[in-house]
Amino acid sequence: MSPSPDKYAVIGHPIAHSHSPWIHARFAEQTGQNLVYEAIDSPPDGFAASLKQLEKEGYAGANVTVPFKLEAFAAAGTHTPRAELAQAANTLAWQAQAGGKGKKKTVTLHADNTDGPGLIRDLVFTAGFTFAGENVLLLGAGGAGAGVLGSLIAVCPGSITIANRTLQKSRELIARHQVWANMHSVPMYACTLDEALYDEAPEDPEQPGKFALVVNATSTSLQEQPLALPFKRINAMGMVMDLMYGPAAEAFLQPARQRGLNTRDGLGMLVEQAALSFALWREVRPKTAPVLAELRKRVDGGKA
Ligand code: ATR
Repeated sequence: MSPSPDKYAVIGHPIAHSHSPWIHARFAEQTGQNLVYEAIDSPPDGFAASLKQLEKEGYAGANVTVPFKLEAFAAAGTHTPRAELAQAANTLAWQAQAGGKGKKKTVTLHADNTDGPGLIRDLVFTAGFTFAGENVLLLGAGGAGAGVLGSLIAVCPGSITIANRTLQKSRELIARHQVWANMHSVPMYACTLDEALYDEAPEDPEQPGKFALVVNATSTSLQEQPLALPFKRINAMGMVMDLMYGPAAEAFLQPARQRGLNTRDGLGMLVEQAALSFALWREVRPKTAPVLAELRKRVDGGKA
């Protein structure tokens, strides 16, 4: 008799339209891993209880999505350095330690954040984007922005400007990442969305020039709210990316496409971050390109 499959889940609210169960099922097929992966809708005020229940039922790991990434980080006993920087987690693993003689085994909840490396892998390996020396504009200093900033620093762009509606949050995010940025010699700047939008590229050589990459990490696409792009400050060959995917990202991406800029939604990042979570849990790295190609057809074909 084959052993019962290891159990995983994605927890969020709402969660019904999550592609993660489908993605992880493809990865499991591809790598021959014996696991099940389901979507769990947790009440907004019931995340801690949902986690306890999963632990009791012997789940091996979970992905965490909106709005629980900060709570997931806080609930964990150990964290990877990149989750520490983000103060947010999208990947959890229940890790059992054997107790000493006569002692019960203990279970530690370990937290990681694969969103940032997922974004970088998608941009570099799939989209062919080169970061060296380029200026990056990150829109949004909330949970999603925090989740990717450390990884953006690690690929050593020329500079990173964080524009947020609330300037103070950009400043706080920069302060938390300052040592990491110094280690990579990456200058960081904070500004408001309006400053990023309306100002010309500064002539001051101390300030970043035109942006080669703009990443929308605000929740505007999720809320179906418009967000303008600072076209005066984007390179003619620049890349504009939204961390949302499919139709939700279109309102943001379409004007950029109409101006001839390269655009990218967050679907590739979704598959890459899932593959990194899968590798953390199963110690085997699935191939992402065929899964992304199939998922793209499902999303664009409206079958998802
Ligand atoms: P998430 O986890 O999705 O990042 P969050 O932590 O609540 O959610 O952060 C939401 C981000 O979107 C913030 O950067 C927020 O700006 P503020 O910090 O000023 O609140 C940004 N945001 C939300 N609605 C916005 C809007 N209508 N226009 C511009 N920025 C918006």
